[in-house]
Amino acid sequence: MARPTIERPDFGGPFPEHLAIIMDGNGRWAREQGLRRVLGHSEGVHSVREITTECARMGVKSLTLYAFSVENFKRPKAEVGFLMRLLAKFLVDERPTLMNNGVRLRAIGRLDELPKNALAALRETERLTERNDGMLLRLALAYGARAELADGLRRFAREVAEGRVRAEDIHDETLRDYLYDPHTPDPDLLIRTAGELRISNFLLWQISYSEIYVAKECWPQFRRPQLLAALEDYARRVRKFGGLVNDAPAPRSDSARPGLPAR
Ligand code: FPP
Repeated sequence: MARPTIERPDFGGPFPEHLAIIMDGNGRWAREQGLRRVLGHSEGVHSVREITTECARMGVKSLTLYAFSVENFKRPKAEVGFLMRLLAKFLVDERPTLMNNGVRLRAIGRLDELPKNALAALRETERLTERNDGMLLRLALAYGARAELADGLRRFAREVAEGRVRAEDIHDETLRDYLYDPHTPDPDLLIRTAGELRISNFLLWQISYSEIYVAKECWPQFRRPQLLAALEDYARRVRKFGGLVNDAPAPRSDSARPGLPAR
C-alpha cells in the first residue's frame, strides 16, 4: 500500500526532527469524566495512535513516547497489570497502522523487566517494522534516565576492567555510546501534557538543549490541534545551544510565516 505523502505544516520557523513526549494526565482525565483511572490509559491509546500517525505524516523523523517508567512499577498491581495488557494489545493492534505509515518501532528501557507476553509482542513488532523507512517511534518502557545512566556506566566500567577502553576515552560525546539508543539524535522538542512542570527522570542526558513545551490538556485530550499548537510555538523558538543568537539559523521573517500573526 502506498504511504501517504508528507504534509509538513509550515509555521515559518524550525520544525522538530525529534519530538519527545511525557504523556501525563490519563488518571486526571478519567476522574474528570467520572471514570476509573485506568480507563484514562485506554483513552490515551487513541492519542498515541493519532499523534504517531500525524507525526509520521508531517515528516517528524523520531518520536519518543514515555509510556512506562521504572518508577511506574510502584503503582498498584492492578494498574501495572492493566497497563501491561494494554501495551501488549497495542503492540499487536497497531501493526497495520505502523506499516501503512512506514513507522519503525523501537523500545528503550529495562525491557527485561516487562512481562513475557508484552516483551514478545514488542520484539515481534520491532521485527516486522524494522525495514520501514519512515518515522522512528521509540517507546520508553520500564525506562528511567538514572537507570539508563547507571546501566551505561556499569557497561563502561566492565569494558575498562576488560581493558577494552580507557577512562580517559570518556568525553561528552563518547558517553552517548553507553546510552540505550546512541544513534538517534537528541530531541529538539520535549512536550509534557497535563500542565506539570517536571522532567520525571526522562532522557536527562539527551534533553540538555531540547526546547520544552507544556500543554495544559491531559494526554487523552492531546490530539492533532494540540500538536499543531506545540509545533507552532516551537517554530518561534531561536535555538542557541549556549552560543549567541547569531550562531543559530535565523528564523524567517514574520511576513513569510503563514498562519501566524505578526509579532
Ligand atoms: C501518565 O498518566 C501516563 C502513564 C503512566 C502511562 C502512559 C500510558 C499511555 C498513554 C497509554 C498506553 C500507552 C501505550 C503505548 C500502549 P497518569 O496515570 O500519571 O495520570 P495522572 O497524573 O492524572 O494520574
